Amino acid sequence: MCMITGAAASGLPRPGECRPARPELKKQLSVSHDSAPQPLTASSGAPLRGALRPPGDKSISHRAMILGLLSIGETRVEGLLEGDDVLRTAEACRALGAGIDRLGEGRWVVRGVGIGGLGDPASVLDFGNAGTGSRLMMGVVGGQPVTATFDGDASLRKRPMRRILDPLVRMGCEVVSEEEGGRVPLTLRGPREAIPITYETPVASAQIKSAVLFAGLNAPGITTVIEAAATRDHTERMLRLFGAEVAVTKTGEGGHGRTVALTGQPILRGTDVVVPADPSSAAFPLVAALIVPGSEVTIEGVMMNPLRIGLITTLIEMGADIERLREREEGGETVADLRVRASRLRGVEVPPERAPSMIDEYPVLAVAAAFAEGTTRMIGLHELRVKESDRLAAVADGLRANGVAHLVEGDDLVVHGNGSPPPGGGTVATHLDHRIAMAFLVMGLATERPVTVDDGAMIATSFPSFLPTMQGLGGAIAG
Ligand code: S3P
Repeated sequence: MCMITGAAASGLPRPGECRPARPELKKQLSVSHDSAPQPLTASSGAPLRGALRPPGDKSISHRAMILGLLSIGETRVEGLLEGDDVLRTAEACRALGAGIDRLGEGRWVVRGVGIGGLGDPASVLDFGNAGTGSRLMMGVVGGQPVTATFDGDASLRKRPMRRILDPLVRMGCEVVSEEEGGRVPLTLRGPREAIPITYETPVASAQIKSAVLFAGLNAPGITTVIEAAATRDHTERMLRLFGAEVAVTKTGEGGHGRTVALTGQPILRGTDVVVPADPSSAAFPLVAALIVPGSEVTIEGVMMNPLRIGLITTLIEMGADIERLREREEGGETVADLRVRASRLRGVEVPPERAPSMIDEYPVLAVAAAFAEGTTRMIGLHELRVKESDRLAAVADGLRANGVAHLVEGDDLVVHGNGSPPPGGGTVATHLDHRIAMAFLVMGLATERPVTVDDGAMIATSFPSFLPTMQGLGGAIAG
């Protein structure tokens, strides 16, 4: 059971931590690309109880580092996610000229070089598993007079980068070399000044939008991104926080789309960034508390940005008992504590227009759906095929391995639950994907037989304290 002890002056768990009753369990995961896989097994047991604060939001953490690099003066960050993905972005910022120091847990300072002040990195920018870090940084390099080579692990090397390179080429960036189909390793040479463009994103992707806007920072004029469906807006919000002029208008049918116009060549000034807890990480203890009978868990300080909480909306439609408590402002975002109690869930239809607000949460929603009574239909999941793994296939394989009735119909995932725990007993192939690993470990906390994932190492890219956090709540997960 996780207990908040009197030892903490604030009385709250620190970011990414649940203060476990049994400290010997506090083993964090670490990413290792050259050692043996780290299999993990989850088994059902006692109800989950306690409070936790998930780690800092990954999207905001990447952007805090990057905007710190592009600013004049100091940026101080509180609550940074110290996962492997963000540490890779920090390393890349350092290689491009920023001075970066860690002041304490989650507390970092970035001394920026300003727009136009970047230098060529001395070696390859290795982004490991990080799609967001690499794509956002391609936008930075693609708009500035620097040359840099991007690379990553076996997962990143499979991911499509053409969607980022196409607009950057229009903005004056040269792709010096690339792997077939626009994959890393690839080398970009940015222009002295970027060309301001108007770009309609071909798929709803905050990464594409952000890369174009970051390149547009060095363009003499207005760079406009038009998206048919609104995606997470952290780049727009944070650009404003650092001093840029960004105009956002609602467009399209039902006002679902957005037009974002950035005035180029601003002077960005370093500032303070407080990173709220990541709703995409909160999703795992949240679904665990819903499916393990008798559980009651409080998840503190979770960011409630409307473009990020599609999972919570969906779970509430399914009958989940989730209370939003103590809503408040932190770091320019609304945050809340979520009190979650085990619930009887029912199947629902999840409309495609909700996908951008819960794009990373479908694997764990599929797990919730496996425990629900009736059919859950998740529509329009094509973007899941190009995440850290082909998540649609990986989720379907994991459901199959654990006896859950389901269908993949085109880009839709249909899960049939009967309101009781699925058999479990399977081993899930995670394909270097942190969210596949965490989703199926959550499943194993409530299935009839234990669930094993073949490798939990990548969990450290986004939620390094996942294991002690879940163990601290009483979840039986072991290596
Ligand atoms: C992210 C955007 C999303 C999401 C990723 C983080 C971001 O990707 O899946 O984990 O921080 O911009 P897409 O924009 O490609 O959908």
